[in-house]
Amino acid sequence: MYIDKFIDEIEVGLKILFSPSSSKRPRPDKKISNAENLSPEVKKKHAKLMRVNHSGEICAQALYRGQLLFNKDKVIEKSLQKAAGEEIDHLAWCEERIDELSGKTSVLNPILYLGSIGIGGIASIIDKKYNLGFLAETEKQVSSHLDKHLDELSKYDVKTKKILEQMRLDEHQHEISAKELGATELPKPIKKVMGITSKIMTTLTYKI
Ligand SMILES: [Fe+2]
Ligand SMILES: [Fe+2]
Repeated sequence: MYIDKFIDEIEVGLKILFSPSSSKRPRPDKKISNAENLSPEVKKKHAKLMRVNHSGEICAQALYRGQLLFNKDKVIEKSLQKAAGEEIDHLAWCEERIDELSGKTSVLNPILYLGSIGIGGIASIIDKKYNLGFLAETEKQVSSHLDKHLDELSKYDVKTKKILEQMRLDEHQHEISAKELGATELPKPIKKVMGITSKIMTTLTYKI
């Protein structure tokens, strides 16, 4: 039983990491023409920003999968699966946009995936309220990180802007859902460690 689950998880992980993702919802920038005239510098910078966001989505997938590993609550399971589906959309949108901007995804993604699924799994063992609390805090930190990226974008790149705006809306909704399901506020030191880890992750994935 556990072996089957373990093998399934390996299969899903490999798929997320090494196969192109496809989104269920249309891309938020679908109606905006592709005829962009971005300078090479802007394209390079935005491709790096989207690489960071793509890695964030890789972590989100792994976190959600980890959180489902030992969760026994059916309502939470449904909510986690719904959010995980939306995160797949984000993953696909980021992947496609990176490609359009002639960038590359991060080489660190396999390590990030493994680390995140481990953290999610541990959170799901500890306690239901902490599991959701951890989720709510992650989503909150991702939203504020997306705000920063939106501020950094060149105003000419409307396509990237549209994608990030929809992602920010979704992440905020994920935070609200986790709170509605009973998420507890995490202790300050844990939030701080999460913030530092995210800073290291974003700095590294911006580079490689
Ligand atoms: Fe996301
Ligand atoms: Fe999210």
